[in-house]
Amino acid sequence: MAFKHLLAALNAAFPLVRGASYACNPATFSLPDTTVISASPHSNASQIGLPGTVASCGEPDLVANITADLCRVVLSVQTSPSSAVQIEAWLPDEWSGRLLSTSDGGIGGCIDYQTIQNGAYLGFASFGTNAGHNGSVGFDFFLNQPEVLNDFGHRAVHVEAETAKLVATQFYGCAASKSYYAGCSTGGRQAFQEARLYPEDFDGIIAGSPGIDWLHIVASKGIIARRIGWPYLNSSAYVRTEQWTAIVAEIVKILDPLDGVVDGIIDNPTTQRFDPAILACGTGVLNASVCLHPAQVESVRKAYEPIANTAGQIVYPSFELGSNTGVFSANQVNGTAQLSYTILQDFWLGAVYNNTGWTPMNFNETDMDFSIIVNPGRVNAGETDLSAFYKRGGKILSYHGRNDETVMSALSERLFAGVQSSLELSLDEIHSFYRLFFIPGMHHCSPGLGAWSIGNAQSYPWDYSRLDPEHNVLSALVRWVESGTAPDHIIGTKYVNDDVGGEVQSQRRHCVYPQISKWDGRGNVWRIDLIKDTEIFVHLGLPTSTLNVGTSQCIPIMLCV
Ligand SMILES: *[C@@H]1O[C@H](CO)[C@@H](O)[C@H](O)[C@H]1NC(C)=O
Ligand SMILES: *[C@@H]1O[C@H](CO)[C@@H](O)[C@H](O)[C@H]1NC(C)=O
Ligand SMILES: *[C@@H]1O[C@H](CO)[C@@H](O)[C@H](O)[C@H]1NC(C)=O
Ligand SMILES: *[C@@H]1O[C@H](CO)[C@@H](O)[C@H](O)[C@H]1NC(C)=O
Ligand SMILES: *[C@@H]1O[C@H](CO)[C@@H](O)[C@H](O)[C@H]1NC(C)=O
Ligand SMILES: *[C@@H]1O[C@H](CO)[C@@H](O)[C@H](O)[C@H]1NC(C)=O
Ligand SMILES: *[C@@H]1O[C@H](CO)[C@@H](O)[C@H](O)[C@H]1NC(C)=O
Ligand SMILES: *[C@@H]1O[C@H](CO)[C@@H](O)[C@H](O)[C@H]1NC(C)=O
Repeated sequence: MAFKHLLAALNAAFPLVRGASYACNPATFSLPDTTVISASPHSNASQIGLPGTVASCGEPDLVANITADLCRVVLSVQTSPSSAVQIEAWLPDEWSGRLLSTSDGGIGGCIDYQTIQNGAYLGFASFGTNAGHNGSVGFDFFLNQPEVLNDFGHRAVHVEAETAKLVATQFYGCAASKSYYAGCSTGGRQAFQEARLYPEDFDGIIAGSPGIDWLHIVASKGIIARRIGWPYLNSSAYVRTEQWTAIVAEIVKILDPLDGVVDGIIDNPTTQRFDPAILACGTGVLNASVCLHPAQVESVRKAYEPIANTAGQIVYPSFELGSNTGVFSANQVNGTAQLSYTILQDFWLGAVYNNTGWTPMNFNETDMDFSIIVNPGRVNAGETDLSAFYKRGGKILSYHGRNDETVMSALSERLFAGVQSSLELSLDEIHSFYRLFFIPGMHHCSPGLGAWSIGNAQSYPWDYSRLDPEHNVLSALVRWVESGTAPDHIIGTKYVNDDVGGEVQSQRRHCVYPQISKWDGRGNVWRIDLIKDTEIFVHLGLPTSTLNVGTSQCIPIMLCV
């Protein structure tokens, strides 16, 4: 297997410890402030039930797949008198000498079994954490719990990284050669916080769709909902859910061709502008049941404006054109105003205001600004000063979907520019430790119309035939850290029905930012006979025939400084 060969080549650099018989029992481990809940051996290809998990983390049917002969250790680390972090360790018998730590998205609360399973398969001693609380919805765990918030905000992944090093040393009898991290969304936020606050924890970091500036990200959903008339569902300014489906389809229809290929994908939404006036009733673009009345045209215009704080400074970029608007437009249940993006309500109620009587109905910029002052658990860390991580030779491989509905991809552009300017680096210098890849047509950490599968967390199990560094970001990161070869591009794969490892539908080269990937006119552009976002395709009248994979080239673009 290609990746295994790569590992073998890299493994030559340090001794492997495979083959020993390890003592898989709690007495093997002696860790500070830690209770070893269990340590149990498991055989490859078996499954284990996970009773005790809360419903929002997958109970009652959650089953983890054992992907190597391994020792599973469950630990609880006390992080303060009133907080503890749950850690899960999967220690494969055939160890590559590497560690892989993971975290979760949203306000989770849940162990990322998918990445642990993938990691153990590849010989990593793999770790997960609940980030200090159990569950991905709710507020009880944050209410009046500043130490639990510290775990979620910045401490849990650090504790995980330190625990991982000790656990591996005590189990295998020698220290790990390299320590890696992979996370998406909140896990991507924690990735950058690690690099900034705890630069020694990891040698290599995968930061997917990073939720940096997390409080503004969450607040933006409430502010945009207010801009489109919510919670006054009968007001003339309110834009209904079904109108948004038609609005986004028109935006895609108009803007998609501008990147040179009609495939339902707006390659770079952050460089586009759109005037909703053409969607007004009377223009004939939208029919009478979904067209926009004058006050609604203004609402849509405002929805796509950037967000400023109460002092008038822009703090959050425009909602990206072509992205699904559900995070702010799915805001009623049976005719009653209610935000479907529950993270806002949960976090402001439990963490920002510590007030069970609070509701988001009047949410505005004052609430947003207040959260920045409180900054619960230091959830916003001010991530641009990565100098210590840079100096020690750490590497960051970041990726971000260009059709992200939750975390605007413009934030990754802003962060890249911010790090470059704060460290005063040339492009070559920043590329020596931080590389960013945009994935057109990928949603938030999850599938989309584009060639989204790059060995990211959301593919379990991975496509074992594409584990090489050109197709798999973890593999690319390992090669970069251990043999110095930095990735210039990653080839993403789109599978039929998003069945990872199944029939390939299309592939595309994703270039290191600030290069962009352009179809070079050779071969067909990729197949566009898709799939689930069919509404857009029906709308565009796109063909349903099968096209072959075309070729694309990386082209440098000028950045404005
Ligand atoms: C284990 O594998 C099954 C398919 O065999 C899958 O449905 C399930 O989600 C996997 N469990 C996890 C935690 O990924
Ligand atoms: C685990 O079992 C699967 C399926 O039998 C096999 O493909 C895989 O190579 C095994 N993994 C390891 C690490 O031995
Ligand atoms: C989380 O759940 C585990 C059981 O899966 C339990 O041991 C632990 O105490 C829980 N943590 C919190 C903070 O409730
Ligand atoms: C949260 O609110 C409760 C009830 O009003 C109060 O007792 C507690 O001190 C507050 N905690 C914090 C951290 O503000
Ligand atoms: C909105 O209008 C519907 C009928 O058109 C009515 O039943 C409902 O009470 C109104 N809601 C408000 C909040 O005025
Ligand atoms: C109006 O357009 C919307 C969106 O394209 C469509 O779902 C709906 O069926 C159309 N209604 C009529 C009456 O044609
Ligand atoms: C909404 O209405 C449907 C149909 O009347 C009902 O089944 C459902 O439970 C309601 N949902 C809520 C959240 O009240
Ligand atoms: C936000 O709403 C509160 C009332 O809930 C009001 O006092 C405040 O002035 C508003 N802030 C802005 C920026 O509109």
